[in-house]
Amino acid sequence: MTSPIFVAIDTPELARAQAIAAKVRRHVGGLKLGLEFFCANGRHGVHAMAELGLPIFLDLKLHDIPNTVGKAVQALRPLAPAILTVHAAGGRAMMEDAKAAAPVGTKVVAVTVLTSLDGDDLASIGVAADPHAQVERLAALAREAGLDGLVCSGAEVAAAKRSWHDGFFVVPGVRPAGGASADQKRVMTPRAALDAGASILVVGRPITQAVDPDEAARAIEATL
Ligand code: C5P
Repeated sequence: MTSPIFVAIDTPELARAQAIAAKVRRHVGGLKLGLEFFCANGRHGVHAMAELGLPIFLDLKLHDIPNTVGKAVQALRPLAPAILTVHAAGGRAMMEDAKAAAPVGTKVVAVTVLTSLDGDDLASIGVAADPHAQVERLAALAREAGLDGLVCSGAEVAAAKRSWHDGFFVVPGVRPAGGASADQKRVMTPRAALDAGASILVVGRPITQAVDPDEAARAIEATL
């Protein structure tokens, strides 16, 4: 079985990203590249990372008018990412256009409420709902818009799966038992997140900052 672990390569430096990916490639199922990497290295950087032969998760969290997001996704088509993120808050038409523009094999997944926002932050941008209710609302909208799934925490995945049986659920913020949680507040072990319904797990620092990233990835894989 391919590993459900996507390693979050959160760096703008291509050489460092390539070095990490080369070390862990045998014990992860894919590479997650974010906005910092993409802004620094663009499509060329993504092509360079894809040379390792692992699926690419492009975490760009696109959010703009439907036409712009649709065209952006179209521009990304040659990269054929395995997974691509858009903000559910961009609305139904934006999500529909993103999905329509994506390659058939690309899972377009919705980000609901950023974990950096709390209830007060939502109120300050005019959203009266509490974060939990807002996540549920946006999750339902993403499903109606034909997206493939959601990014959600380990604590939310079981409930999300109950209302979206065939959804694809990306769970970040997982930590091996006894590992440092750093700035992640609601953490779950990789095994528990999979048992709760995660389709893939995003793991960053527990692998990338380890003294031996390959051994760290292997040890996490062994718990699954
Ligand atoms: O290093 P760590 O394992 O905390 O990295 C988690 C990755 O998942 C980062 O790339 C972070 O941006 C991403 N992420 C997250 N929480 C979310 C969505 C994405 O930590 N709700």
